[in-house]
Amino acid sequence: MDKIVEIENLGKAYVQGHEQVQVLEEINFFARKGEFIVLLGPSGSGKSTFLNLVGLLDDSYSGEIRLYGRKLELLGEKEKASLRLKNIGFIFQFDSLLPEFTVLENIDMPSRIAGRSDPARARGLLKRFGLEALADKFPMEISGGEKQRAAILRALANNPGLLIADEPTGNLDKHNAGIVLDDLKKANSLGAAVLMVTHNEEFVSYADRVFHLSGGRLESGQKT
Ligand SMILES: Nc1ncnc2c1ncn2[C@@H]1O[C@H](COP(=O)(O)OP(=O)(O)O)[C@@H](O)[C@H]1O
Ligand SMILES: [Mg+2]
Repeated sequence: MDKIVEIENLGKAYVQGHEQVQVLEEINFFARKGEFIVLLGPSGSGKSTFLNLVGLLDDSYSGEIRLYGRKLELLGEKEKASLRLKNIGFIFQFDSLLPEFTVLENIDMPSRIAGRSDPARARGLLKRFGLEALADKFPMEISGGEKQRAAILRALANNPGLLIADEPTGNLDKHNAGIVLDDLKKANSLGAAVLMVTHNEEFVSYADRVFHLSGGRLESGQKT
């Protein structure tokens, strides 16, 4: 299965007050194994909405979404949760580590939830990314950049085929943003496809493919 995500004629509407607002319309998209895809678009254009649909965090939509060839609307809640846990790693803009757990425990958390806690694997990830020194620290003891790096390793815990990153460097200075992008590149070179929203022009040049979202439509874009 070369295509890990396939989307046909996707639409999404939100109810706001008494109005139905169409946020996404007639979207066709796919992601292949190991690709690095960047999604651009103005604030409010529906980028997060789109990522949440691809990442199985939202299941109200029209059209069709297939993940690893499996049509989502045919899956039950349990199957969807398991598909998400095994195949998708999410990285958000804002700090999402659990404050009462160490970095090592945070990274092991998806494996714990999947019922196969593996601290040795979490430690191995830290080592591979040169972050062993953070293992036993708590989130409040590390910098914003380090938190994002730990969040990437947590997203990699179950060795997912797809990493979804929603403005992962939006809250960082240029230096730390570069370090976080390097981690994402490394995760990508280790085999994970990446679907990332960013406003950073420099990162766009790194992508295999670029898309623009505006007016609810997704268009294949030029790299700048
Ligand atoms: N839960 C929600 N309920 C109603 N409207 C929403 C909800 N989430 C997002 N929206 C609206 O959908 C549009 C797209 O939002 P979003 O996907 O967050 O855009 P982006 O990530 O590109 O900034 C915005 O107009 C936003 O107000
Ligand atoms: Mg957003």
